[in-house]
Amino acid sequence: MTDQKATNVHWHQGDVTREDRNQLLGQKGATLWFTGLSGSGKSTVAVALEKALFQRGKLTYRLDGDNVRLGINKNLGFSAEDRAENIRRIGEIAKLFVDSGVIALSSFISPYLEDRERVRELHRESGFAFIEIFVDCSLAAAEERDPKGLYKKARAGEIKNFTGIGDPYEAPQSPEIHLHTDQMSLEQEVEIIIDYLKQQGFIATA
Ligand code: ADX
Repeated sequence: MTDQKATNVHWHQGDVTREDRNQLLGQKGATLWFTGLSGSGKSTVAVALEKALFQRGKLTYRLDGDNVRLGINKNLGFSAEDRAENIRRIGEIAKLFVDSGVIALSSFISPYLEDRERVRELHRESGFAFIEIFVDCSLAAAEERDPKGLYKKARAGEIKNFTGIGDPYEAPQSPEIHLHTDQMSLEQEVEIIIDYLKQQGFIATA
């Protein structure tokens, strides 16, 4: 999608490896990619998980839709092209965190399958773990929560391309983790993710 513009540029390898950094931190870097409707609970789960991992001495960093759109992606809107570029840049940023040994928690609606698959591929090419977490919640429940009052605005026609109303949300077909936030407690959700990270060896089981 995005072609390489600069020529004569080469990746410069340092003397400290990814494995060295993982060893220093006592964890294995990974991207945990939370995807779901606005109001599904992506950020809430990521914040709770971050705290639980911090208490276990694990280093994480949260990348969040609204925050990133106020900074590095402030020049992007919500057209399909801009959403694709939003996700591409975040995918690249997440990769840098994983390379540093950090567990990156990315919470973005990321409504298009193709965009998420591209990030997965970017990770695969570099040998990085990409763990897709489907933060599933019915549209009715998300709309009922409406924490930012945006569904109301979308229904009133004030936001044209709002995900779930004017724009589609393409659910993951085989996410590594599938949460149902309209049926599970926050504690259960955090436990499911931590168990997964232990089972897969990203953090120690003790
Ligand atoms: S994404 O589709 O490109 O992945 P992202 O997660 O970065 O979206 O941003 C979504 C946030 O932007 C929502 O939580 C909401 O606060 C806000 N927002 C504003 N307009 C829209 C819109 N048209 N569709 C979805 N979210 C919107």
